[in-house]
Amino acid sequence: MLVVMKNDYQDVSREAARMVAAAVRSNPEIVLGLATGNTPLGLYNELIALYRTGSLDFSNTTSFNLDEYLGLPHSHPQSYHTFMDQNFFSHVNLPRQNIHIPDGTVTRDYEAYCAGYEASIKAAGGIDLQILGIGRNGHIGFNEPTSSLASRTRLKALSRETIEDARHLFASDSEMPNCAITMGIGTILDSRRILLLASGRSKAAAVAKAIEGPITSSVSASALQMHPDVTFIIDEEAAYSLTQRDYYRHVLEMTKIFTPERLS
Ligand code: F6R
Repeated sequence: MLVVMKNDYQDVSREAARMVAAAVRSNPEIVLGLATGNTPLGLYNELIALYRTGSLDFSNTTSFNLDEYLGLPHSHPQSYHTFMDQNFFSHVNLPRQNIHIPDGTVTRDYEAYCAGYEASIKAAGGIDLQILGIGRNGHIGFNEPTSSLASRTRLKALSRETIEDARHLFASDSEMPNCAITMGIGTILDSRRILLLASGRSKAAAVAKAIEGPITSSVSASALQMHPDVTFIIDEEAAYSLTQRDYYRHVLEMTKIFTPERLS
């Protein structure tokens, strides 16, 4: 596990974009796992800027999003379909047919639908690089606390904390979804490489538990400790509660010298 600490959100976004851009350049047919939420917005903006300068090409890239609210039509302003379209896909040349986002309009046979999403990931060759944010409760995707660490894509009830965090985006309580379709923790752990981004003091406790706490289903992100190639890119505020910050800086310096490819 690598912990890359940056001054602020802008630096987190730039560093993440540098790594994603390098990965896309070295493998134009890369399969990306994408996240929504506030955290990756800066990353998407940086990638869009690189695309506009002509230094990045997504024409052979495939993507799979982590999750989608259940019950929202794709055109709903708060759907993750709309989010991805507005904040990334409509600005770059990633082919529409290569984009995959769980369908929140499914109304039955959820298990079959979710098994199909898993099968599509497999058919694409698996996810090469998964981007993650982290919830205040340590969730990744919508894998709320106590999710099985072996879980696969499925229908998941949202936690009270997650509903509270998103509630202000919806016109009324009744409009706020209480379930989502999400890749499972097992699905995420199958990715070849994972970048988790976090910014701000509100994420500090979750980040510390994920990196330094015990592996527990009470903190879904702690499962990342079992992954061989995960990089946390976090700002000083999100790193606030880590006890081994000096050691992570030392590891990073040694990585630059001995295995710089891990940072490209
Ligand atoms: C979104 C997702 C969630 C978010 C998390 C953090 O696709 O999977 O796990 O990454 O809730 O959200 P923000 O970035 O808005 O703080």
